[in-house]
Amino acid sequence: MLNYSKSLRAALGVCAAFMLCCAAAPVWAARVGISMPTDQRQRWLDDGYEMKIGLEAAGHEVALTYAGDNDVALQKKQIAEMISQGATFLIITAADRNSLVEVLKDCRDKKITVIAYDRLIAGTPNLSYYVSFDNYKIGVMQARYLESMLELATSKQKRYIEIFSGSKDDSNATYILNGSLSVLQPYLDKGTVVCRSAQTSLEQTAVQNWRPELAEQRMSELIKELGYGPEGTKLDAVLSPNDSIARGIIAALQKAGYDQSNIPLTEGQDCDKRNVKLIVDGLQGMSVFKDTRELALMAVAMVDASVKGQEVPVNDTTSYDNGLGPVSAFLMEPVMVSRGNLREVLFDSGYYDESVILNGQP
Ligand code: BGC
Repeated sequence: MLNYSKSLRAALGVCAAFMLCCAAAPVWAARVGISMPTDQRQRWLDDGYEMKIGLEAAGHEVALTYAGDNDVALQKKQIAEMISQGATFLIITAADRNSLVEVLKDCRDKKITVIAYDRLIAGTPNLSYYVSFDNYKIGVMQARYLESMLELATSKQKRYIEIFSGSKDDSNATYILNGSLSVLQPYLDKGTVVCRSAQTSLEQTAVQNWRPELAEQRMSELIKELGYGPEGTKLDAVLSPNDSIARGIIAALQKAGYDQSNIPLTEGQDCDKRNVKLIVDGLQGMSVFKDTRELALMAVAMVDASVKGQEVPVNDTTSYDNGLGPVSAFLMEPVMVSRGNLREVLFDSGYYDESVILNGQP
């Protein structure tokens, strides 16, 4: 689907073939520790699995760990263990972006290459690379969808929205919100878009650990306080940064009496199976597809190139700053998915089996 995937797969295919015909481990084999934040979300299970099989196929040794459900102390312990067991590369998605400075402090001295995967790790000078989808762009896409569906640029009608954002300890939450506000703030300033709760900052709108139940709770409170409902106060859209939060918001809206015919527009990202079904059913407006297979392959390619002393693929050296300066990054292109292109992007491409999604199987 994305143009670099073919050459990446081909390159890694060559490595796998090389391994099959050589008895001794190649000198460039890396020991890679992968640290994922939670085993409770489809996307991190997929990412971890894809990286492990990609790295192993390329001849590297892998330890894959999940930090329970965003258990920050456990993640630190698991990373420390992988370091003491001789990891030469660490690929980390931080449960809390600020929590890893101490555990990573000797990595450069020990020649351990640290790659931040999907989420930037803050405050450490020991970070070598960042590989992610462009999170700012994701926020822009979510808001552009809303702008186009509500005809914000052309209609004279006032539109009413509420805003949600991701977990405060995840750097992506800030980039996504800033991206969305870059589109929506001018309308909010003009008063053509109204956020009745007046809650638009990260501080006010964040959902800890992107938990659907916390999103549902906040949405239910807003419904109660402001009287939103199909027969009540008008609400046109709820800006939602990802699919787990969208599920919580949609659950609260349904409990307030909304259905397919009148539910406010919501957005998301990840194209989780359950949310794809919500889009098909007309309950969620759009999601952003981030092909985690491609992201995982890019992380594998970074390790592979680095261990062989080749040029590590990066395409952005200025946009993502971890507090100590910009980090060399490879940013992948997200794809907007709504009812109109869902079949082509997710089913025809073979990413999901249509019958599994339509039957509502997890
Ligand atoms: C990721 C999203 C994910 C969220 C919750 C973010 O850092 O970029 O894809 O939905 O975490 O797991």
